[in-house]
Amino acid sequence: MKARTAIALIGFAVLATFVATSMATNSTWGQRTRYDRLLYRTDVVKKSSLWRVISVDVEYPGKNASNPFNITQVTAIDHKRKDGGFAQLRKGGPGYRNVTLHIKSARNHGLNYTVEIFGN
Ligand SMILES: *[C@@H]1O[C@H](CO)[C@@H](O)[C@H](O)[C@H]1NC(C)=O
Ligand SMILES: *[C@@H]1O[C@H](CO)[C@@H](O)[C@H](O)[C@H]1NC(C)=O
Ligand SMILES: *[C@@H]1O[C@H](CO)[C@@H](O)[C@H](O)[C@H]1NC(C)=O
Ligand SMILES: *[C@@H]1O[C@H](CO)[C@@H](O)[C@H](O)[C@H]1NC(C)=O
Ligand SMILES: *[C@@H]1O[C@H](CO)[C@@H](O)[C@H](O)[C@H]1NC(C)=O
Repeated sequence: MKARTAIALIGFAVLATFVATSMATNSTWGQRTRYDRLLYRTDVVKKSSLWRVISVDVEYPGKNASNPFNITQVTAIDHKRKDGGFAQLRKGGPGYRNVTLHIKSARNHGLNYTVEIFGN
């Protein structure tokens, strides 16, 4: 490989990493139909903290609560345009009656998410 190509590739990789960590993205698990209802919606808003990654777990239903509905779709909407966070499905989700989402901020940045859970 020519040095120039290698440098271009490294440059691209650095740029891709930068773009991947700076763009906000929404995440969706499962599909919903018009028969599904909104079971739960919550806003996750956290202030940034210097040098830190903020992480929040969203659990549905709560500790002592029970949910009689089958979950069909879980969405995590990131309201930020850049320096967005990262949402991960930890437990449950579509096909279950419970779900735990783990949301992490970008280092040095806060969170502004809305989580919605649909089911029937
Ligand atoms: C995420 O979803 C919200 C609400 O639907 C929308 O306004 C926003 O443009 C979406 N962001 C991205 C990066 O697709
Ligand atoms: C959950 O239920 C237990 C036992 O009934 C009780 O001690 C506890 O305070 C409840 N927790 C919440 C968050 O309601
Ligand atoms: C979070 O996003 C909502 C919807 O875009 C916006 O109205 C609100 O001001 C934002 N909050 C913060 C703290 O940025
Ligand atoms: C629950 O939802 C999942 C995902 O939409 C679906 O595959 C499954 O058949 C549903 N189960 C029941 C009992 O309705
Ligand atoms: C979710 O529900 C399943 C059964 O439907 C249960 O086995 C599991 O312990 C529950 N998980 C949480 C985190 O509540």
